[in-house]
Amino acid sequence: MPAVSVFGAQWGDEGKGKIIDRLAAEADVVVRYQGGANAGHTVVVAGQKYVLHLIPSGILHLGKVNVIGNGVAVDPLKFLEEVEGLRTRGVQVDGSNLRLSSSAHVIFEHHRRIDQAAERWRGEGRIGTTGRGIGPCYADKAARTGLRVCDLLEPEHARLRLRAALAEKNALISQVHGEAPLDLEQQLARYTTLAGQLAPFVGDTAFQVREAYSQGRRVLFEGAQGAMLDIDHGTYPFVTSSNTGVDGIPAGAGFPARWIERAIGIAKAYCTRVGEGPFPSEQHGPLGERIREAGNEYGATTGRPRRCGWLDAPQMRYTLGWNGATSWIMTNLDVLTGFDSIPVGIGYKLHGKRFAEYPASLSGIEDLEVEYTSFPGWTEDITAVRQYDRLPRRCREYVESVEKLIGVPIEMLSVGPERDQVISRAGVHHGTPVGAR
Ligand code: IMP
Repeated sequence: MPAVSVFGAQWGDEGKGKIIDRLAAEADVVVRYQGGANAGHTVVVAGQKYVLHLIPSGILHLGKVNVIGNGVAVDPLKFLEEVEGLRTRGVQVDGSNLRLSSSAHVIFEHHRRIDQAAERWRGEGRIGTTGRGIGPCYADKAARTGLRVCDLLEPEHARLRLRAALAEKNALISQVHGEAPLDLEQQLARYTTLAGQLAPFVGDTAFQVREAYSQGRRVLFEGAQGAMLDIDHGTYPFVTSSNTGVDGIPAGAGFPARWIERAIGIAKAYCTRVGEGPFPSEQHGPLGERIREAGNEYGATTGRPRRCGWLDAPQMRYTLGWNGATSWIMTNLDVLTGFDSIPVGIGYKLHGKRFAEYPASLSGIEDLEVEYTSFPGWTEDITAVRQYDRLPRRCREYVESVEKLIGVPIEMLSVGPERDQVISRAGVHHGTPVGAR
């Protein structure tokens, strides 16, 4: 496993945390390259549940280096809270196994305030953000008014930059959103104190990751959110503010694209989404409710109930295609146990016109009707199965039919939240990038 990318192939919450934790056993370095504490990666080890928002899921393995790259939007409060939370549970976290890029942009109080106020301002057009300040932080990065971790570590420089930023943000907070402005001195004192606590973790992570790779270390890139939330290729404007797929790695980690040898998509055996925006195969009513209860589909970051629906083959071909996926991993297969029949989306209809592929840039996408084919379900408990040929016949038929519809090999199945509840599919070929579209 020299350099492997793991990314969400749906709208986030595909179970990446558990898979990364599992693959981390074979890696030396685990790297987050985009997003921030909007992510919620759940890992269960020996019955203990860990929810990681910012720190890579490799932290639960001894001897791995975990990296938060320059492309991540870092909230110092959340970072330090997470470090403390892990330490109190006996997990080793220090500057030797957790590295933070000096070029990562910092999320301040004003970013969180503006994120939440802007959502109220948008009313019906709201995105349903996590309210963690992600969008406003990336907006400042692009506008060149943001502060990076290295800026925060130089007090005089930090004062100049924060003063300029707050002059503009306070006008927005008070005059547009009608809230109390933030005090520069208070904010400076708070964030420079936090910067002091960040310092032992900070370094040139891009250089460190390239060096590690050049010395033969195995590098795993942990995507957050999902490819359908990618700012360029997702369901814009109902997306997050970063490149969530393989496309985010070169910019967000300073790692050459051509060194990435495998790209593994993660997707549930059905599909979920949190927040607003198009979700063609969503099931409203009792079926959606049944999937939500069976899969305990409530957000790990915000606790919001997730919208639930069926697997959508053209949507999967779209995300696996533009990310050049070499294989994918199907998670939460056990959740489908007990359904009489399991529909899978195979195409769309819009205003009487048929589409076989996901129409990425079409306006009116929210009116897409999905055409389904259905597979018979199974009733046997599969949570203790560890060998593919021990799965019920109908379950295997479901997996193999979906694989054929999507056209990218499934290399692993996940059948429960624990680290060892996976089924490896021997003989699956991975290594040939797939350009599905
Ligand atoms: P933001 O990333 O907080 O700006 O939110 C933008 C959109 O992405 C919203 O629909 C969120 O619900 C969604 N989102 C952000 N992070 C995650 C995640 O980790 N899982 C699933 N959805 C997410």
